Amino acid sequence: MVKVVMVCLGNICRSPLAEGILQSKVDESVFVDSAGTANYHIGELPDSRSIAVAKKHGIDITKQRCKHFTKKHFEEFDYIYVMDKSNYENVIQLATSDADKQKVKLILNELHPNEDIEVPDPYYGGDDGFENVFQMLDEACQVIANQIKKQ
Ligand code: 4NP
Repeated sequence: MVKVVMVCLGNICRSPLAEGILQSKVDESVFVDSAGTANYHIGELPDSRSIAVAKKHGIDITKQRCKHFTKKHFEEFDYIYVMDKSNYENVIQLATSDADKQKVKLILNELHPNEDIEVPDPYYGGDDGFENVFQMLDEACQVIANQIKKQ
């Protein structure tokens, strides 16, 4: 089974969307999860604005609960996609080998290789920020899903 974890800061806005979107594009042979590098919201539902934008696009993310990213994720997961460079630094600090480090990728580099474009944090903005994030993640997750299917 291929295992993918999506990571952002709070695990309530961006990474829950990435989890829901990728899971909608692959079959049950792919396990998709998400986690946050911060522990502010553990156990909570995704942000209501992420739930709404996902629902608008036919994806239910209300079964998700916020989790904290820990170094155990390196043992369990094959691919670790982070939303921004700050997430990247936080995740890399928990890596204990080169193999761990190689699992960590900026998610938009799947779409725009080597450009290091970040998924903006929509937490403090308006609803259009969530739609914008959805569209970016939808394109990146389509590339990831195609790559997984080719394996
Ligand atoms: P996320 O957004 O990293 O996309 O889940 C945030 C959610 C919560 C906070 C920051 C970012 N916060 O500071 O509580």
